Amino acid sequence: MAILTFIGHSTFTLQTDDGTRLVIDPFLADNPVTEVTAEDLDADFILLTHGHHDHVADAIPLARRTGATIIASYEIGSYMEQQHGFSVSPQHIGGGVNYPFGYVKMTPALHGGKLDLPGGEKFTTVPGGFLINLSGGQRFYHAGDTGLSIDMQLLKGKVDVAVLPIGDRFTMGPKDAVTAVEFIEPSVVIPCHYDTWPPIEQDATAFVAAVGDRADVEVMEPGAVFEF
Ligand code: NI
Ligand code: MN
Repeated sequence: MAILTFIGHSTFTLQTDDGTRLVIDPFLADNPVTEVTAEDLDADFILLTHGHHDHVADAIPLARRTGATIIASYEIGSYMEQQHGFSVSPQHIGGGVNYPFGYVKMTPALHGGKLDLPGGEKFTTVPGGFLINLSGGQRFYHAGDTGLSIDMQLLKGKVDVAVLPIGDRFTMGPKDAVTAVEFIEPSVVIPCHYDTWPPIEQDATAFVAAVGDRADVEVMEPGAVFEF
């Protein structure tokens, strides 16, 4: 079983069948919905969908402490390597890489590309998401921050568990997320990127009702665990 833990906002940890520990979009110290810090997490790989503060804020202390390899776009990878000397595995939209724990492909996201880290200005990039085919057979998708896109139809039938933002304002809102579920047809959908702050408050119960029988919706509170 893969063990997915929702830390809060868009931050997840995923422990794979073989015990590899992934951390996706570490946003901890400034994250109002969690007490977890970079001191608390173990990581073999840190995956960064894009460079906004609420996705990369704790990547540097976490990578420094754990020695984890950072998987991110070429530009964010270059920043982490050149500015901090971290181990990186750069990728880009549409490209995949085989890791011991599975195959990771970067997917497109409609969003902003600024890298919100000290000295990060010239490493601005395009944002993405991750489609992860775990060695155990499970297929996991973290959309990152994105609006609804027709490109999501390319994921149809390729995802078991989909993490989708529903906060509106900066990403898809609940209504568009339902359309994304129609496009992707995952077995399970997990909403994220909502209720962190007032501007992105949403009614998760209403989202569950709106998805209906299209997929099972796992509404995870910060700290919740989902195994698949
Ligand atoms: Ni963002
Ligand atoms: Mn965000």
